[in-house]
Amino acid sequence: MNTQESLFNAVVDDLVEHSYSIQINKAPIEICKKLLEQAVNNNNLFKAASVGRNNLQIEDKTIRSDKTKWITGQSQTEKDWLSWCEDLKNHLNRSLYLGLNNFECHFSIYEPGDFYQKHVDAFKGKSNRKVSMVLYLNENWQPEHEGQLVMYPEGKPALKLDPTFASFVVFLSEDIPHEVLASQHDRYAIACWFRID
Ligand code: OGA
Ligand code: MN
Repeated sequence: MNTQESLFNAVVDDLVEHSYSIQINKAPIEICKKLLEQAVNNNNLFKAASVGRNNLQIEDKTIRSDKTKWITGQSQTEKDWLSWCEDLKNHLNRSLYLGLNNFECHFSIYEPGDFYQKHVDAFKGKSNRKVSMVLYLNENWQPEHEGQLVMYPEGKPALKLDPTFASFVVFLSEDIPHEVLASQHDRYAIACWFRID
């Protein structure tokens, strides 16, 4: 079994057991380095993130204050990342029969003071988003930079995760409320949602 396949198997096992999976420094390193470079260089193209469901998208800085930029495959780096996501989607479908047939990803940047209040990515039966993934791109992240992801699995203690380079989390979009604590440092990540459209 190759390393990607055993990584994806570990994600599947965790999803079955806990509805989430945390993988520290396991994403493809070369792609992550280039994604970070691209995010830093295109910083000026990021736009205030919106919140809401379906066609009601509003900018609400009391809920989240990060900025985002969609990943469309416009560079080889973006293509490489989307292809890794496609592999993960196919693996989830083969192992869990999820029937995922689409996905979307965006970069996000949290500048000092930025946060995202506790939320779910999908309301039961109301959204096409089924599986969420967040990839972190921050080298040398220090505890005093805060900006942790906090997940609230039902009936279990909350989990706090530092957004460290090449680490990622996968979770069932409807099942895990989560938040991003105010970051004290520029914080780069990519959020992806695997969908049934
Ligand atoms: C999101 C989100 C978490 C993170 O964009 O919906 O919850 O750690 N992001 O950046
Ligand atoms: Mn979220």
